[in-house]
Amino acid sequence: MEKLTGKDKELIRNSWESLGKNKVPHGIVMFTRLFELDPELLSLFHYNIKDGSMQDCLSSPEFLDHVTKVMLVIDAAVSNLDDLNTLEEYLINLGRKHEAAGVKVQSFAVVGESLLYMLQCSLGPAYTATLRQAWLNMYSIVVAAMSSGWTKNDYLKTVHN
Ligand code: HEM
Repeated sequence: MEKLTGKDKELIRNSWESLGKNKVPHGIVMFTRLFELDPELLSLFHYNIKDGSMQDCLSSPEFLDHVTKVMLVIDAAVSNLDDLNTLEEYLINLGRKHEAAGVKVQSFAVVGESLLYMLQCSLGPAYTATLRQAWLNMYSIVVAAMSSGWTKNDYLKTVHN
């Protein structure tokens, strides 16, 4: 796993301090953006009633539960910036679960964009190029770990076929 600089960690911790206290509303901003950028992702949430609109999905309790889960994973990453390795196994497993849910690794690029959008909306002028890069560095570590869940699945598929 890559390492973050001391400056990255400081920027991430400081910016998450207030955001992390209000996870669900910020998560909703992030997922609203995600569905605007890639509306097809809506269909991966099976509890989204058939042909349900983005609003139906965003207000369903199950979806809000997923938003909370996503924000808690980000929270765990921010709390473990000094040793993100401790989350590696968990993240690999989380990647596996997302592959099973039909998510493609490539979709994590648009998830990253939505995360940055949410940070920009919430932080205003505090959202600087250095802060953006710090979050991107952390996000790419998380995504790299999650993605290896997919690689391992593919590997297992070739072994068993
Ligand atoms: C393309 C974006 C994503 C899609 C379509 C997606 C979809 C899903 C689905 C369908 C489930 C299973 C049902 C549920 O628990 O709601 C799930 C579970 C979960 N997702 Fe996501 N997800 C996405 C991104 C993320 C991200 C970025 C994170 C955190 C970094 C995350 C964290 C979780 C967690 C913690 C669970 C519960 C896993 C468990 O049951 O142990 N998801 N996701």
